Formats: sequence, C-alpha cells, structure tokens
Amino acid sequence: MQQSKIAISRTETYCAHNYHPLPVVVSKAEGVWVWNPEGHRYLDMLSSYSAVNQGHNHPRIRAAAIDQLGRVPLTSRAFYNDRLGEFAEKLCTITRKDKILPMNTGTEAVETSLKIARKWGHTVKGVLENTAEIITFENNFHGRTISVISFSTEVQYRRGFGPFTPGFVRVPFGNIDALEQAITSRTVAVLVEPVQGEGGVIIPPDGYLRQMRRLCTKKQILMIADEVQTGLARTGRMFACDYEDVEPDMYVLGKALSGGFYPISAVAADDDIMQVITPGDHGSTFGGNPLAAAIGSTALDVIIEEHLAENAERMGIYFINALRNLNSPHVAEVRGKGLLIGVDIKPESGVAMDFCKKLMKQGILCKDTRKSTMRFSPPLTITKDELDWALERIAKVLT
Ligand SMILES: Cc1ncc(COP(=O)(O)O)c(C=O)c1O
Repeated sequence: MQQSKIAISRTETYCAHNYHPLPVVVSKAEGVWVWNPEGHRYLDMLSSYSAVNQGHNHPRIRAAAIDQLGRVPLTSRAFYNDRLGEFAEKLCTITRKDKILPMNTGTEAVETSLKIARKWGHTVKGVLENTAEIITFENNFHGRTISVISFSTEVQYRRGFGPFTPGFVRVPFGNIDALEQAITSRTVAVLVEPVQGEGGVIIPPDGYLRQMRRLCTKKQILMIADEVQTGLARTGRMFACDYEDVEPDMYVLGKALSGGFYPISAVAADDDIMQVITPGDHGSTFGGNPLAAAIGSTALDVIIEEHLAENAERMGIYFINALRNLNSPHVAEVRGKGLLIGVDIKPESGVAMDFCKKLMKQGILCKDTRKSTMRFSPPLTITKDELDWALERIAKVLT
C-alpha cells in the first residue's frame, strides 16, 4: 500500500479524531515547500498555523537545535541553565518589556497572562479576591483549555465541556463603546487578538486598538495582546499592535517563537506587572528549557536579520491585490494584513474546505477557518515567484 495511505489509516486508527486534516501526508519540508512520502511537492500556505514564519526546517535554527541537543536539552527550572537568560533578554528587547515568563504552548501563555492579570488586579489594583473580571471578545480564539473555552463564542468549542471558569465578560469585537460599557470596578484586563486569526482573519476598524489602549490606561486595566498568531512578523510588523503604535501591557507570544521546531511560548510584561509572580506561583517543567531557549533565540535572530516583517508586508500587499484582481465569482471578500490573509467563499459556492481540497490537488496546502473562510498564511520567506506559482493555480480553482 502507498505510504501516505498507511500513515493516514494508522493515524485515524490510533489517534483521537480531534482534527479533520486534509488527506495529505508530509514527510519532508524545507522553506515554503513540503513533500509527501511519494515525493509529491506542495507549497505550504498554512505554515503550521503561523508557527513556521521562518520557513520549514530553517538551517540556522536547525543548527542551533542540533548544537543544543548535543549539550543539554532539559534542566527544568529547579536549576539555572546557560541559555535562558540570553533568550529572555532578546525577547525583552524585541517586546520592549522588562521580563518574560516562558511557557510552551500558546494556550499556556494565554492562561499565564490571565493568572498574572488576576493577581495584579487583587494585589496592585485592589480588586477584591475572587471577583476579578477580564473582558474578552466575541469570535475570539485563544486556545482550548477549560478556562480559555470558558470565554469562547464558538458553540462546538464549549459544547459538553462545562462547567466553565467564571470571571470573563464578552463584548463585540471592534466596538469601542461596547468595551467601555462592559468595564466595571472589578475589571482587571482586556484580552484581545489585534487581528482575529482563527475567527476568520477579522481586522478591527482603524484606531480601535489605540482607543482600547487609551481606555485601559484611563481605567487602570491591563491590555493583554494575544499575538500568538499575529506576532513575530506575520502581519508585516513585528507585532500587529505596531500598526497603531500601541504598547499593550502584556504580549502573549508562541508559535513562530520556535520557527516550528518546538513548542515555545512566553508572556512579556514590565516589572510593575510581572513582580506579582513569586516562586511557586506558576511554572512548567519544560518552560524555559535550554533547548527551547537556544531555538527561540535563533528563531528571533532569523526574523530580524532576514527582514521577515518587511517581506511579509511587501508580499502581503502583492498577494492580496492579485487575489482581488482574480475577480472570482466564488469569492465574497479578500482581506488581510501582511501574510495573514482570509478569502471568504460565497455561501452559494460551497464551503471553504471544498476549495482547499481542490487547491491541494493543484499542489497548494491551505486550510479553512470558520467554514466559509480560506486562510492563506505562507512562510514569510516566500518570494514573488513562488506567489506567482501559487496564483496561477489558485486562479484555476477560484475562477
Ligand atoms: C491567537 C491565538 N492564541 C492562542 C492560540 C493557541 O496556541 P496553541 O495552539 O499553541 O496552544 C492560538 C492558536 O491558533 C491563537 O491563534
């Protein structure tokens, strides 16, 4: 039997069915390209949900990982290691924050930011213990833990998983008045995705984040920017907040912090906030391990030294315009920032997944989000020639 068929059948037999993947098996990857076991090549336009901003298997990050594997991969935080400080300093410089708290997955970093915000609320702002409220947004996506799905508005993410964690309020995304009205004396933080990625690449109105920043400062509320997907050059700036010159109180980062080699996430904040965390308050066996730090440090170097934000902005503008110029009868809207791009399929044309399957047959991998949106988010190393290669094939499927 074909190797791909065997791999799919084994996965379906022995893994829980918590995903519905495209029927393609990846056994090798380099840059923007991936290959199946039979040697068929595809252009990856998903980048592992934006974890591979630097391109697959980046040689510099791979070399750093291999070098560190030969020394020491894991120490736990029971001891110091000789790599974490360097990585933390670099990430502090990039985020312009005093400290980071390293974790592993994006969801864990979100949870971490919520814990910091609650404790800051009680100990600094003076909100009565166990009464803090955090404002979140309709159509959000911040991960899958019980607390995080407690404020999801996606029915399937919540159905059957209650009871939920209290203390979260939801308001419409993009409406500053609704946000202002939701604030009470118990509000300690606002948790926002500067662009809602999983929610269908939803971009808020211009000035919204700046107004939010002003409101948070005025009301002594922490602004937490979940830039797990939008951060680290994806939208054409180091952080999507940079478009509005907004400095959130906390950045939540993950995905491309490792260039796809390893789960690495972090929260970055200034000392006046981070000081609420004391030994024993929070942690993770793997968080901040030397392998992660070596990989993360090099992954950040690659983003800066290869000018990935600039390329994402330039290629994003080119690609969005080209997609619009296809004038596809199936497309309701094309929108995006940098190389985080959503293409809405008209309801009468079917669901986005159908078009993703057709693109797969043309050698392009991408995935739907929220049923009606195709998301294009290729590695940020992609060139104009590679985008033209993709556009030729996308045109065949969409027109
Ligand atoms: C904005 C945002 N936050 C958090 C997460 C969760 O990250 P992870 O899947 O690494 O836990 C995601 C994942 O897509 C995300 O897009």
